Amino acid sequence: MTRESWATRFGFILAAVGSAVGLGNIWRFPWMTAQNGGSAFLVMYLAIILVVGVPGLLAEFVIGRRAKLNPVGALSSLSGSRGWGWFGLFNVLTSLVLLSFYTVVGGWILRYLVASLSGGYFASPGSFFSAISFGWGAAGYGVLFLLATAAIVLAGVRRGIELGTKLMMPAIVVLLVALALWAAGQPNAGAGLSFFLTFDPGYLRAHFVSVLVAAAGQALFTLSLGVGTMITYASYLDEDRSLPSDGATIAVLNTLVGVLAGFVVFPLLFSQGIDPGTGGPGALFVSVAGAFSAVAFGRVVAVAFFFVVTLAALSSSISMLEIPVAYLVDEHGLSRRRATLLPVAVLVVSGAATALDPSLFSLFADTMVNLMLTVGLLGFLLFAGWVLGPDALAEYVLGADGVGRATGPAWLWAVRTLLPLFLLGTLVVALLALAGVTAPLVVSVLP
Ligand code: TRP
Repeated sequence: MTRESWATRFGFILAAVGSAVGLGNIWRFPWMTAQNGGSAFLVMYLAIILVVGVPGLLAEFVIGRRAKLNPVGALSSLSGSRGWGWFGLFNVLTSLVLLSFYTVVGGWILRYLVASLSGGYFASPGSFFSAISFGWGAAGYGVLFLLATAAIVLAGVRRGIELGTKLMMPAIVVLLVALALWAAGQPNAGAGLSFFLTFDPGYLRAHFVSVLVAAAGQALFTLSLGVGTMITYASYLDEDRSLPSDGATIAVLNTLVGVLAGFVVFPLLFSQGIDPGTGGPGALFVSVAGAFSAVAFGRVVAVAFFFVVTLAALSSSISMLEIPVAYLVDEHGLSRRRATLLPVAVLVVSGAATALDPSLFSLFADTMVNLMLTVGLLGFLLFAGWVLGPDALAEYVLGADGVGRATGPAWLWAVRTLLPLFLLGTLVVALLALAGVTAPLVVSVLP
């Protein structure tokens, strides 16, 4: 049986952008920005995307395309060592942790989408969120979201993931632009935009380390780094594509959508008079929903908004599920059907548990994700830089144009030294805060 591959170059880029653009951009990014001083966070985040995110993305691409295998197979076959295979299994585990809470948030969004049709939460947006966020209802909607994810993955790389993202991405961009224009006309929208866009160097100086760590975590999350999503997607790629230019395109498009989402969310927060520094992710749901209930045609706008978020979340969750699926197909010879159903069965249980227990949710969504993604990307960088070394550079320049080729040596140098040191630094800071040695970094995930 021949291994699956993308039908077109554009298909790969769209699928990778689809993976990157997700709840991270629309839900997590505004909330992290708000908690970390607005534009101070934005500036730091953009810098880290450029200096750490793009080279990290390329490290995953290089590993994936070189091996044409899932993370477990790629790391063990390219290194010839079982130890790296175990590291790949850690990545598969990370994808399951990630999906366990991501499907719960996906379920919240589905619930809001359904409720927007009837205006169900318009009377009391605040109590609606606390009523639906945890419990059996949340578990049910989470499973529904999981099944939608599984349906796309089941259809395969070309007919599922590629076709799905080709339909979803344009819809996301068009609807977000329309929503941003609408939001700009809301009362007090200007205050939201200036919070988002006016750079405050004083805040950055006073909270440098915590902004740095939060921005690094967000940069990894939004580019889908550190789990092997990008290894897996690049494993379906041919040699004639330029990795550096595709990687840069993906990072730019993802950042544009993230900033665009900020143009929707911040004006709405301020038009509702909500201090964006308080309340975390729940407040985001509450305030956005509150804004819709306050205006004419609120229902139409609300449906459009939660529909966009649903599409963005789906095009990301399929990229997480593809990791265990590719692993089971490549390494254990399962059919795609069985390889999909097996992790889905596990996720029904772990997702439901996450939906029932708020403390498990915040353990997964906050603490574990930050640590696991950082460790994951650290491993991929060391692998590309030191295990592959010159081979990584050879893969990097394969299919690249002049500009892409010229950046190769600097990329390899950064991947070997600078970037692992940086990630190690953020890991130590995060662990110290977790152990209570230093002040906590991020306020709890829950409202
Ligand atoms: N990047 C996605 C988002 O912003 C989430 C995501 C998809 C992801 N695949 C991933 C995050 C792999 C980390 C690793 O919502």
